[in-house]
Amino acid sequence: MNSIVQPDGIGGERPARVAAVRRELTRHGPPRSPDGGPDFATVTLPERDGDQIRDLLVEEQVGTVVEIGLAYAGSALAIGEALLRTGARNPRHVVIDPFQYTAYDGVGWELLRSAGLDDIVELVTEPSQRFLARLADEGFTADAAFVDGSHHFHNVFVDLHFLGEIVRPGGIVVLDDVWWPSVGAAVAYFETNLGWRPVPGAVAEGTTGPAGGRPRTGAYRLPDPRPMPSFKEFRPFC
Ligand SMILES: C[S@@+](CC[C@H](N)C(=O)[O-])C[C@H]1O[C@@H](n2cnc3c(N)ncnc32)[C@H](O)[C@@H]1O
Repeated sequence: MNSIVQPDGIGGERPARVAAVRRELTRHGPPRSPDGGPDFATVTLPERDGDQIRDLLVEEQVGTVVEIGLAYAGSALAIGEALLRTGARNPRHVVIDPFQYTAYDGVGWELLRSAGLDDIVELVTEPSQRFLARLADEGFTADAAFVDGSHHFHNVFVDLHFLGEIVRPGGIVVLDDVWWPSVGAAVAYFETNLGWRPVPGAVAEGTTGPAGGRPRTGAYRLPDPRPMPSFKEFRPFC
């Protein structure tokens, strides 16, 4: 049987090009290292976790994803590949990172362009805690979000609060570094009080954290409909 090469979608040329750029990045590092820039291996999502997130997003058939934290584009390439593989009609990927042109000298954005993703990705260079508020005000809706920006508790908490408005009911929020108490505590509030539920098996094959073998990434499904609990029902979460 003749194989048909499709321009997009599963098995198409575009996702294969993105996968090739990501493979090159994860195996050999970024094409150039900004002077004094953050260490690639330290900041980048491991390849295995990127594969898991890509597969989860394809399974969820996402069309619009909000991502926080571009760095060298390791996770952004995995998400971009997923958006092309779902074959969504108008895939959209909003990536937020205030330090892309300062700490990273634009390397992550260059990699997204070399992967041919610049027509679906919008890069926003301001702190997510401010930008997400405006995005929510505009009524912007996403199917999923990936959170790997500031790891301070208060910033992650604000990110998750606004993503709870932006990601549609029943959509998913994936976080990197949930093994850090600051990140784990922030998401614990939403799990304990607002009905966010871990997606079973979503990150089972990913890497684990140093303490207690806890997976480094966590995937949560948002409740449908959105709950509006009374403040009197507050449950301590740490
Ligand atoms: C751990 S790195 C992200 C790595 C990336 N997900 C990957 O797999 O390559 C964290 C990123 O968050 C960005 N960041 C820090 N504070 C931020 C904020 N307030 N809003 C958005 N991004 C932020 C940093 O510039 C950095 O690029």
